Amino acid sequence: MKRIVIVLWLFLFSGACLAAGEHMHHGDAMGDQRVSLGLSPEMKQHQLSNMRAHLEAIHSIIGLIAKKEFSKASEVAYSKLGLTEEMKQMCDMFSNEDFKKLGMAFHKSGDVLGEVLLKKNATQSLHALSNTMGYCVECHAAFRQ
Ligand code: HEC
Repeated sequence: MKRIVIVLWLFLFSGACLAAGEHMHHGDAMGDQRVSLGLSPEMKQHQLSNMRAHLEAIHSIIGLIAKKEFSKASEVAYSKLGLTEEMKQMCDMFSNEDFKKLGMAFHKSGDVLGEVLLKKNATQSLHALSNTMGYCVECHAAFRQ
């Protein structure tokens, strides 16, 4: 029995490595297919620091949901992910219309998240958070600096 388990494990493991290797090779051959935003060096830094703040906000919101501190989590969602004047201006600086649209939809979803968090329901909050994070994933798959 033990031997079968080991053989099976080796089989699965080597399969996983092969799949990963193929994937990497595939990626190299295709290059980065995402649309470049053609940003200036200053805009690049500005965008990346904004992005790191988005990540920090998500981290903080997850921790606050776990502690059932929903009001605080809502404040973070509204102020760091929502469609604030600052974020509107940031989105307006980009010339790519699709990127702008996605950015605005993302920030609107941040406001919805802020609203849902006020209901103090962890499951509903996680659904809203998942929806907002869907925009992170979607945009990163489509665009690069
Ligand atoms: C509308 C588009 C868009 C949305 C939405 C978006 N990002 Fe980004 N993000 C970008 C782009 C473009 C880059 C640069 C990627 C590149 O050039 O490879 C980036 C880069 C980043 C980086 C790298 C920062 C660094 O210092 O290197 C992090 C972290 C990040 N995003 C987090 C997030 C998180 C978390 C969310 C959602 C809460 C999010 N982003 C939503 C477009 C977006």
